[in-house]
Amino acid sequence: MSIDKITSDDQLSHSKDVIQENIDQLKKLFPEIVSEGKIDFKTLQQILGEEIEDEEEFYRFTWAGKSQARKEAHKPSTGTLRPCKEESLDWDTTQNLYIEGDNLEVLKLLQKSYSGKIKMIYIDPPYNTGKDFVYKDNYKDNLKNYQEVTGQIDSEGNRLSTNSDSDGRFHSNWLNMMYPRLRLSRNLLKDDGVIFVSIGDDEYDNLKKVMDEIFGEINFISNFIWNCSTGGGIRPKHVNKTHEYLLMYSRDKNSLLQLNAPLSKSATEQYRLSDDFGGLYREKDFVFKNSSTNINQKYFIECPDGELVTPKDGYIYRFIKPTFDEALSENKVVFKKSTNGPLLNNKGEQSGWNIYIKKYLGDGKGSPLSILPKDIVGLYNNGTSLVQNLFDNNRVFENVKSLELIIYLLEMILGEDDVVLDFFSGSSTSAHAVLEFNRRNNKISKFFQVQLPHPTESNTIAYKLGYKNISEIGKERIRRVVEKIKETNPDKSVNMDLGFKVLKLDSSNIKSWDGNPDNLESSLFDSVSNIKSDRSEEDVLYEILLKYGLDLTLPIEERDIQGKKVFNVGMGSLFICLSDDITSKVAEGIGEWKEECDPEVCRVIFKDNGFTDVEKTNSVQILKRFGINEIRSI
Ligand SMILES: C[S@@+](CC[C@H](N)C(=O)[O-])C[C@H]1O[C@@H](n2cnc3c(N)ncnc32)[C@H](O)[C@@H]1O
Repeated sequence: MSIDKITSDDQLSHSKDVIQENIDQLKKLFPEIVSEGKIDFKTLQQILGEEIEDEEEFYRFTWAGKSQARKEAHKPSTGTLRPCKEESLDWDTTQNLYIEGDNLEVLKLLQKSYSGKIKMIYIDPPYNTGKDFVYKDNYKDNLKNYQEVTGQIDSEGNRLSTNSDSDGRFHSNWLNMMYPRLRLSRNLLKDDGVIFVSIGDDEYDNLKKVMDEIFGEINFISNFIWNCSTGGGIRPKHVNKTHEYLLMYSRDKNSLLQLNAPLSKSATEQYRLSDDFGGLYREKDFVFKNSSTNINQKYFIECPDGELVTPKDGYIYRFIKPTFDEALSENKVVFKKSTNGPLLNNKGEQSGWNIYIKKYLGDGKGSPLSILPKDIVGLYNNGTSLVQNLFDNNRVFENVKSLELIIYLLEMILGEDDVVLDFFSGSSTSAHAVLEFNRRNNKISKFFQVQLPHPTESNTIAYKLGYKNISEIGKERIRRVVEKIKETNPDKSVNMDLGFKVLKLDSSNIKSWDGNPDNLESSLFDSVSNIKSDRSEEDVLYEILLKYGLDLTLPIEERDIQGKKVFNVGMGSLFICLSDDITSKVAEGIGEWKEECDPEVCRVIFKDNGFTDVEKTNSVQILKRFGINEIRSI
């Protein structure tokens, strides 16, 4: 009896193959286009008939390198995410993730585990002002490129340079960076999920077009305007820019529910009256100017002294009669004496009354405003000084987004227990916002942060304080926020998830899975062990989770069985033992542990050379006896 080996050809050794999935979808939709397993494009064209655009000139958005960027989004990653317990908080229990790495590779790696699972994505990419660093992907070998960019290995080229506006491909470079990332991020969203992207004037128009293409024009929700500064500073020659944008798209507009956001302070202040039924309220005109002749909203109402009133010409009531009667019975109608109101009595004379309706403050929420309420969301200054205070008055990061701005977005979208992803996380404002949102509202949403360990410049305060890259700043901010919550809210903090798991992007742990073509020669000599010598069992464990598409925050238990380390992932859904000299007694122990957990499905993975042939055969038989049929080796 043998164990199937997971080879480099196996689907499991790659991140999700998006192209294949799309082809499968096409085949399902149009079975007639499949000929000997291949797509017959001509037949597809015939089926689509008039829907095919065959004019030379038609409306489209393109740039230098677009088709390559599209291909890049579909190429699987052969890298992995390596756990880093030392830098994490509450490793065993937390469901928050902090991932260090280039976000393109990371997004590819997350496809299997998190497709359709993320409720909200917020990103704040480089705005391409001509002065900022824009990551240049190297399609041939993006993992090596990543190690060069982050200074992990020597580089000949100067990859940390900024994208200068004198570069002939200035906008194309930025779009080539953004396109595959946005494309992959869409797959991760739930049907009722949304993405917000912060942007400035430089790339607003390109971003809008590229988002329309990727998310669909139909899923555009809003272009929010954030009044982010008060101006000031040196007087510009032309216009003092005091705002920027936030584009919002849904994955599927039909699935997106009613949006609610906190009312601005100036709006809340209007609710000054109060009653025992609904609390704070304001009085709103029940009769308003409208030239409609709709008789449903013009009827007689009896006032407290018996006078019958109806709207003058050019005015109507807010509600039809049944709705008014209901409001009246609920004590929501207010009659006030007035000598010049918009009502006439039944003799056609000026009435002595006006009518108002009570509008309750309720939960203090209303529809979000596309010009974000200034008194709630704050300015850049608020974000920057908040972080400065957290870091003992040291300005370790510039242009931090305002915490309240991100909380306003979270208020619109989050339910009880959702995941918020930010893959340009900088100083971790969105992680801070999720923690603060949970604290205020007693919710349990989670954050996933992705940030390039981009080296800090040696002349910066951050560098001098020992933060050698931006991820260090991001992780430290979360630690400091957590400390503060524990200090100021000891009672609440015990029920909050105040930890985060750190994972770092790297090449595969398994030699034959390593996508680096330069390693091909040497890997021929590595048959002794398939796992790279500098990698731990935990490293391999996380790679297997990614490749199997399991949640990286599943509970993982560890037991010693007959002197061998065995991991139990997700209460018995996957057992992994990567030790040498495994005996059938270990298999017996795994079988018994599986019985304890009683999972719906159970899989077991060993190291290929971890057994002798006899022990392998016996182990497989034992596991099958326990009802475990999926047994693989690497
Ligand atoms: C504008 S900042 C985000 C600031 C953040 N919203 C805040 O409030 O602190 C953009 C961040 O994206 C990071 N970044 C740029 N390219 C990246 C890439 N390819 N992968 C991951 N992070 C990247 C940069 O290092 C920078 O920290």
